This record gives sequence, C-alpha cells and structure tokens, in this order.
Amino acid sequence: MRLGSADLWLLIQKAKSMEIEIRPATPDDETAIKQLIFSLPGVWQKEWRDSAVSLALASAGKLALVAIVNKALAGFACFHDVGFRAYLSEMVIAERHQKSGIGSLLLKKAENILSRRGCKLIVADVYPPAEEFYHKNGWVRSKATLLAKRI
Ligand SMILES: CC(C)(COP(=O)(O)OP(=O)(O)OC[C@H]1O[C@@H](n2cnc3c(N)ncnc32)[C@H](O)[C@@H]1OP(=O)(O)O)[C@@H](O)C(=O)NCCC(=O)NCCS
Repeated sequence: MRLGSADLWLLIQKAKSMEIEIRPATPDDETAIKQLIFSLPGVWQKEWRDSAVSLALASAGKLALVAIVNKALAGFACFHDVGFRAYLSEMVIAERHQKSGIGSLLLKKAENILSRRGCKLIVADVYPPAEEFYHKNGWVRSKATLLAKRI
C-alpha cells in the first residue's frame, strides 16, 4: 500500500513527537555516518574506500541528508542531482529507529527539494529486501536495465 497524504501527516506528527530534525549533512557528520553504516550488518562494502562517505557528501552537496533524534544520528540518505536525473546512492536508518517513519521522511524531504529544482526523476539501485519500503513510498520498477562493470 502506497503512503497517502494522511499517512504523511501521521509521519510528520510522529516526527514532531520524537523531535526528529532533518538537515543537510556537514563534514562534521562524517564519523557518525560511517559508524551508522558500520552498525548495520552487510551495508558497508569491503571494496569501498575509507574516503567513501566524504566523497559521497562532497558529491551530494546539500542533498546528503541526516535525520537527528535526541541529538544523535538516526538516519542518512544521499542524493545526487546530475541534471539529467537524480540518484539515490545510500539510505540507512539506525536499527533502533527503523520502521518508525524516518526513512520515509528522508525520501519525502529529498523528493520535495529535487522537485522544486525541476528534477523529474530519481533512480536508485536498491537492496532487494528494502524494495517494499520504496514501493510504499511510491517508487516503481524502472524500464531501464541496470548494468555494471568491474574496473
Ligand atoms: C530500509 C530502510 C531505509 C527503511 O527505513 P525506515 O525508516 O525503517 O522505513 P519507514 O519506517 O519509513 O517505512 C517502513 C515501511 O516500509 C516497510 N518495509 C518494507 N521493507 C522494509 C525493510 N527492509 N526495512 C524497513 N521497512 C521496510 C515496512 O513494513 C513499513 O511499512 P508499514 O509502515 O506499512 O509497516 C531502513 O530500514 C534501513 O536502513 N534498513 C537497513 C539498510 C537498508 O536496507 N538500506 C536500504 C538500502 S537501498
């Protein structure tokens, strides 16, 4: 079932009661973002460089978003507007905060920012167990084919 405006309103109320702040990430968030990714089994890929988070933040600019709950990092989502379209490169929510609406809020915030910039499409290669989460937020399978080449 897709999230409707009533669901979104509920999410916003929930966020207010939890005191969730969503803001652009800064270089000062880098260590906490890395710790968050490491805390989730299987998310950090061993071929990623130590500089992966810092490179991602630099490439995303203000489209790297963090969710802060009780002054601690609870979520991170990294979007990139490359003009032709936008990409979502990473999305993680701390285990204890999962399924409380924070991931959906991060998606909605980025979708609004990108839409206001005139961007019409966001694409992502998603972790298969999380696919349903994206469907709930209105994302659909694309007709495009995902190709990759090891270099
Ligand atoms: C997937 C993830 C980003 C979702 O964020 P979240 O804050 O937990 O999600 P929300 O609370 O906004 O939405 C949860 C909804 O999506 C559904 N969902 C489907 N698959 C899910 C999954 N793997 N994890 C969490 N929720 C999932 C839930 O059932 C829930 O629907 P409901 O409210 O009707 O019960 C987060 O759980 C996470 O970081 N998981 C581990 C890392 C990961 O898989 N990242 C995605 C990489 S593409």
